[in-house]
Amino acid sequence: MRTPLLAANWKMHLTRAPAVQLARDVVAQLADATGAEAVLCPPATALDAVGRVLAGTRVLLGAQTMHWEHQGAYTGEISAPMLVDLGCRAVILGHSERRSYFGERDEEVGRKTRSAVAHDLLPIVCVGESFADRERGDTDAVVTRQVLAAVSGLARDRLGGIVIAYEPVWAIGTGRTPTGPEADRVAAVIRTLLAEHGSAEAARAVRILYGGSVKPDNIGEFLGQPEIDGALVGGASLDATGFAAMVRAAAG
Ligand code: PGA
Repeated sequence: MRTPLLAANWKMHLTRAPAVQLARDVVAQLADATGAEAVLCPPATALDAVGRVLAGTRVLLGAQTMHWEHQGAYTGEISAPMLVDLGCRAVILGHSERRSYFGERDEEVGRKTRSAVAHDLLPIVCVGESFADRERGDTDAVVTRQVLAAVSGLARDRLGGIVIAYEPVWAIGTGRTPTGPEADRVAAVIRTLLAEHGSAEAARAVRILYGGSVKPDNIGEFLGQPEIDGALVGGASLDATGFAAMVRAAAG
């Protein structure tokens, strides 16, 4: 009932020409793939060029971050309407790299989530514990705090339309991952939380992704879990063949 979603986070990689080439390769390899949604999130400088490649295809364009205001004196920032103008349909919010290197806080992630929803951009909200949190047994508390902050102030009927990516910080770019059942357990915690703070219907509809060192040879472990509806892929999404294989795996 929930359409699987595979999101590619290209991070700060690729100037326009190689970004366009990668997008073309992904589109070509997914020409006959149905049953799963794919989103490519290039760096902001390549959004326009990649958006032109994706226009009219089933692959969606997404951004990696945005500001919460729709316009104003915020030097260097990009707003939801600006992303929509470029053809974006989704936006990654609260990625752990934004939180740790750029000081993004829970409250800001909440504001951004509300702005994304208000502008009909699909927010892919990232949550996840650090290694120290996990060692202390604080995984559920940290994830709970992050999820509640992200969805605070969202109308209950809009809650089901968001995506949450559970990305343990210690698994990002490290080659280490939790087991499928471990990730599934946290996804279930998130879904229960949304049922309590939103509605049972919204909790059933929300898509929860796993992210952190996902690759073609381990994605099956996560896709096979009942509470996990896809993946947010970083490094391995820079390879068109591998990414397309993961989308096809998600499509089942
Ligand atoms: P990774 O990154 O797949 O390279 O671990 C995931 C992410 O940061 O979203």
